[in-house]
Amino acid sequence: MDTPAPASPLPPRYPVAIIGAGALGLSFAARLAQAGNTAVIARDGERARSLRRGIPVGGRLLRLDVFGAEETPEADWVIVLVKTGDTAAAAATAMAMRPKGVLSLQNGLVEALLPTAGPALTVGQGVTTEGAYRDAHGVHPSGAGETLLPPGFETLAALLVAAGFVARIEPDIAQARLAKLLVNAAINPLAALFRVPNGALLNPPHRLLLDTLVREALPVLQAHGLALDEAAALARVHGVATATAGNRASMLQDILAGRRTEIDAITGVLLRMPTPAGVALPTHQALHTLVRTIEQAAPDSRGG
Ligand SMILES: NC(=O)c1ccc[n+]([C@@H]2O[C@H](COP(=O)([O-])OP(=O)(O)OC[C@H]3O[C@@H](n4cnc5c(N)ncnc54)[C@H](OP(=O)(O)O)[C@@H]3O)[C@@H](O)[C@H]2O)c1
Repeated sequence: MDTPAPASPLPPRYPVAIIGAGALGLSFAARLAQAGNTAVIARDGERARSLRRGIPVGGRLLRLDVFGAEETPEADWVIVLVKTGDTAAAAATAMAMRPKGVLSLQNGLVEALLPTAGPALTVGQGVTTEGAYRDAHGVHPSGAGETLLPPGFETLAALLVAAGFVARIEPDIAQARLAKLLVNAAINPLAALFRVPNGALLNPPHRLLLDTLVREALPVLQAHGLALDEAAALARVHGVATATAGNRASMLQDILAGRRTEIDAITGVLLRMPTPAGVALPTHQALHTLVRTIEQAAPDSRGG
């Protein structure tokens, strides 16, 4: 009688998984993996196999637990860090992992994830000022930031803190998300269109457009609860442009790499918001059209 082959061990259930093995996802995973088991979910098995051979992150070659999206293990807390155009696919992957919670730390206002929430599943979007970029040499984390999570993600916030992140629950996460949307909608499309680092937007001739974008967006975002007056809104955007003066905005990086941008999750979301009577957003509309035109002319409009 044949002896039955031993059953292959079940993959572990991970405390945390990150969907999106890109710049920010691998930067988060590298730090989380030092504190405990962390799964990384790449686009597919082929990409996962290549990443399992070792990933240069911050100058060190790391070996992380990487899986393809079609072969995911289970996980308690899933962080989504794909570009916004890939959110729907990532949401389906997250559901297959039987999580307790799914947190987006993507830019823009993410709409595709939220319908999956239910009584046994916490779903939300946080905000992070962590940064990273990737090039042919690997992933380069660009200095520490702060990560704000919505209520319900206390366990995940504690895991992030244990891994060395500055992270906390923000009771008014909607406020933080709207403020970040304002900053992104002002800086990203202009930097992408004029192909300049963020700091150049503070000088003529770009400054006029930057401030116009802030003034146009403000009444719409205020109607949705943003508690910033015009002076505070301008100061917030100028402050970020100053602090990141030498950086290339992510939308500019996408344009230069011929990738699809996140314009629809940033300016597009703003344009889809109900506007108060008499308010128009012609400058945002023009930038949306221009950035879409540029990205559609790029060789790879698939995203990534
Ligand atoms: N980078 C930053 O500094 C920063 C800061 C704050 C917020 N964010 C936000 O974080 C998000 C990710 O940004 P990023 O810069 O890390 O982008 P990225 O480098 O392009 O990484 C995204 C990764 O997601 C992968 N992916 C795409 N679809 C997938 C799927 N269905 N399942 C699994 N993986 C999938 C991509 O795979 P392929 O490589 O195969 O395309 C890519 O590796 C964006 O929303 C961005 O706005 C980024």
